[in-house]
Amino acid sequence: LVPVITIDGPTASGKGTVAHGVARRLGFAVLDSGALYRLTALASLRRGIVATDEQAVAAVAEALDVRFDGGHIYLEGHEAGHDIRQEQVGNFASQVAAFGSVRQALLARQRAFRRPPGLVADGRDMGTVVFPDAVLKVFLVADVNARAERRRKQLMEKGISAKLQDLLRDMRERDARDTQRAVAPLAPAADAHTLDSSRMTAQETVQAIMELWQA
Ligand code: CDP
Repeated sequence: LVPVITIDGPTASGKGTVAHGVARRLGFAVLDSGALYRLTALASLRRGIVATDEQAVAAVAEALDVRFDGGHIYLEGHEAGHDIRQEQVGNFASQVAAFGSVRQALLARQRAFRRPPGLVADGRDMGTVVFPDAVLKVFLVADVNARAERRRKQLMEKGISAKLQDLLRDMRERDARDTQRAVAPLAPAADAHTLDSSRMTAQETVQAIMELWQA
């Protein structure tokens, strides 16, 4: 069976950066599952669908025309890597990720990323729902202040200035939505290793995961 490493955790815990770092070290593929929720959101917004219309959003998720190619993401043939990072898209994604039918529609698509020599999958439910048979499961946490500070830096690099207070509020709202939803709430798998990266660099976190992998 093709080995999978899952990295789950709350928003801005550094999952994406760390997943790419681990994948590079091992020559594995990467699944950014959040991107699929964001693509579903973007495609829905473009069709004028509202975030409360579960059936319509699930139909969009089911029929999603996406292609991941190197660092690029194409939606209906057009590069969408930039657009899916918009705040409005993230908020829509966070809302519709609570719908069971939307999650179900994206399940097979996520599992299809599993291919030799291996996969690093990042998200909220990679270890609990999508790849319960993963060989290594990491639950990556960081305190909310560290995460807000990281998000602020990321935004600054893109020339966007944001108030720490606003980011903290937004992060608490997302945490609440992720952990309190009825379907696939954010929680560590029973066999996950919890890593607190509040006082670790991305490189140190990658190293810690490599040590768990080699153990
Ligand atoms: O920026 P952030 O880490 O919050 O978002 P993301 O990882 O790009 O995921 C976008 C949204 O999809 C989040 O609000 C999550 O609630 C949701 N998601 C999920 O429910 N399950 C996953 N496996 C991945 C993302």
